[in-house]
Amino acid sequence: MEKLKKRSWAEPFKIKSVELLKMTTREDRERALEEAGYNTFLLKSEDVYIDLLTDSGTNAMSDVQWAGLMVGDEAYAGSKNFYHLEEKLHQYYGYKYLVPTHQGRGAEHMLSQILIKKGDYIPGNMYFTTTRLHQELAGGTFVDVIIDEAHDPTNLHPFKGNIDLQKLESLINKVGAKKIPYVCIAATVNMAGGQPISMENLRQVRELCSKHGIKIFFDATRAMENAYFIKVREQGYGNKSMAEILREMCSYTDGCTMSAKKDLLVNIGGFLALNDYDIFEEARNMVVVYEGLHTYGGLAGRDMEAMALGIVEAIQEDHMKARIGQVEYVGEKLQSIGVPIVLPVGGHAIFLDAKKFLPHLQQIEFPAQTLAAELYLESGIRSMERGIVSAGRNKDTGDHYYPKLELVRLTFPRRVYTQAHCDVTAEAVEAVYERRNEIKGLEMVYEPKYLRFFQARFKRKM
Ligand code: F0G
Repeated sequence: MEKLKKRSWAEPFKIKSVELLKMTTREDRERALEEAGYNTFLLKSEDVYIDLLTDSGTNAMSDVQWAGLMVGDEAYAGSKNFYHLEEKLHQYYGYKYLVPTHQGRGAEHMLSQILIKKGDYIPGNMYFTTTRLHQELAGGTFVDVIIDEAHDPTNLHPFKGNIDLQKLESLINKVGAKKIPYVCIAATVNMAGGQPISMENLRQVRELCSKHGIKIFFDATRAMENAYFIKVREQGYGNKSMAEILREMCSYTDGCTMSAKKDLLVNIGGFLALNDYDIFEEARNMVVVYEGLHTYGGLAGRDMEAMALGIVEAIQEDHMKARIGQVEYVGEKLQSIGVPIVLPVGGHAIFLDAKKFLPHLQQIEFPAQTLAAELYLESGIRSMERGIVSAGRNKDTGDHYYPKLELVRLTFPRRVYTQAHCDVTAEAVEAVYERRNEIKGLEMVYEPKYLRFFQARFKRKM
């Protein structure tokens, strides 16, 4: 008898309730795709088999979190769930003040409006769509100061989310520290492929910024995933707990915006966290206008309770090992059959390199949008374009941005899909890869003004 050589790990949970999926035929999917204008954001969820559009708000909550919904204190003011959330924020992230928001972009909106003046520059480790738009709407200009390696899908740098200190310093020298209200650091970096930033780099950015009196705001949306990468990849952190690592990361920053729909294992929610009382005071005033009272910020009490409980579940190492392990599992499968993906595999998603996958298409034929559409057609699997459509247009010249990375993101919701779903996904990608030479590009026939990737429509090129 053949021996099983390896010792596997498995998910640290078992399944108590399931959601049934509808199976579709190729004809069904052809029709659905046509109706959706070849944009996976416009598909109806019931027409999707395995939904890898996003890990945002798509997580499976635990029985404890569901039970937490029942102890939602739905008072208009001073809900006890707010104080519970505040306590967990202090304990795990270490920030002083909490302003809840309906989701991440609510926090980005307030932070941008409070700190950015017209003509300011906001350096960051690659842009994120909503973050950059809020910076621009406040009159600022985003400047990408991520290391060059991040723009190269094959570079194996373990911390491709790092900030290039020279790029940051030369921006400071060029425009002056007064024109830089803060540096925006994302951990992990979504658009680079879920790549982490190292603790060493964070520390160095802090030093540089302190020297010039510049603040640092953290996009902590997937900071726990980043903490796990620091633990397994960075020297000196192997024996530290996830909680210790997260606290240290946050200690180098002045506050954070948070989309709790990712790391924190909930379906809705976010917050702005701050150490500076004056900024907090402004945000607490502003939240009442745009989100809701400062003790609920657009959320129900039960949502805040699920979030507070989610913080404690998400910081567990066994959870993160399974979460990131699942993504790595799919990554290894795709690599073994030669499919071009962004390496190293990131925390929340596999990113197919559409430029290499469909080299016969020009970037203006939307290779990633095309590939996402083909994958759906093949298998009912929904993924997301992260290339020229997501990058949008330059606000001054009106031209498309032509990002180096033209990617399709297969994003894994936390605690939702099984290893068999992962196998089916890899096999579907392989099937599309085998017929890649026959695939034709797309033409954009409708383009919305803001965040066009959500609602743009396309048709097949003849
Ligand atoms: N920051 C990052 C790094 C994000 O990935 C997101 C959302 C946000 C901020 C905005 O948060 O959606 O709660 O308003 N990313 C989702 C995604 C949409 O699919 O990657 P939000």
